[in-house]
Amino acid sequence: MEIDVILNPAEIALLPQRDLSNATCVVFDVLRATSSMITALAHGAAEIHPVRTIEEAQELKLRLPDALLGGERQGDPIPGFDLGNSPFEYREKSSGRRIISTTTNGTIALRACDQARRVLVGAILNLGAIATELRQSGTENVVLICAGTFADFALEDAWAAGALILKLKARSLSDSARGMAALAAHCSDPATVLRQAKNGRALIVKGREKEVEWCARESELNIVGEMKSAAIRRTES
Ligand code: MLT
Repeated sequence: MEIDVILNPAEIALLPQRDLSNATCVVFDVLRATSSMITALAHGAAEIHPVRTIEEAQELKLRLPDALLGGERQGDPIPGFDLGNSPFEYREKSSGRRIISTTTNGTIALRACDQARRVLVGAILNLGAIATELRQSGTENVVLICAGTFADFALEDAWAAGALILKLKARSLSDSARGMAALAAHCSDPATVLRQAKNGRALIVKGREKEVEWCARESELNIVGEMKSAAIRRTES
C-alpha cells in the first residue's frame, strides 16, 4: 500500500487535476463535519448528500423534499436549515432520514474527490473501521485528505491521518504521510490534541466542549461511510 496525505485546502483545490482513478481517498474533517456524518450513519441516517454551497443545498432540497438540510457557516447553524453541524443533533434527529449537508471545509473536501475510485468518510470515531476496510479491500493507493479550517491546515485532521497510517502496514509513505505518522506517534491522546487545536479551542469557547470530547473518541463506532455518486451511505463490511 502507498499512502499520501493532502494537508490543506490549497492542495485540496488541486485534487480535480490529479488522477485519482486508482485511489481510495479518506476525507477527515474531525471538527466536525465527518464526525457528524459518521455519528449520523451510526444512528440510522439513510444517506448524506454533501454539497459545496448553500444554494446547491437548497436546489437539491427541491428534488429531495423529504431530506433534512444541515450544515454550518462560521461554525454556526445556517438560517432556515433543519440541523447545524453538531454530532449530537445528528445522533438525535437523523434516524431513517436523508440529509443534505453543506459545511465550510468538510463537504468541499469530499466533493473534491468526486473522481476517485473510492471515497471514505474518516473520523477519529471510526479509525479502526476504516483501517480494517482498507486492509480487507487490498487497496494499493490511499490518499488521506485533511479538510482543514477555512484556508488553513487543521491539527485534528492531520492527527487522524497520522493515527490511521500507524494502523496500516504501508509499503510506501510520502513525506507528508511520514510526517503525520510521526505527529500521531508523538501525541497518542486524541482528546488532548483536539483540546489544543485551534478549532477545538474555538468550539470550547462556544460551550461545545462535549462535542470536542465526542469527536476525540477513537474507534467508538464501527462504521464505514462511503460516498458514491455524491451520496454517502453506510458500507456493510
Ligand atoms: C467544516 O466543514 O468546516 C466544519 O466541520 C466546521 C464546523 O463544524 O464547525
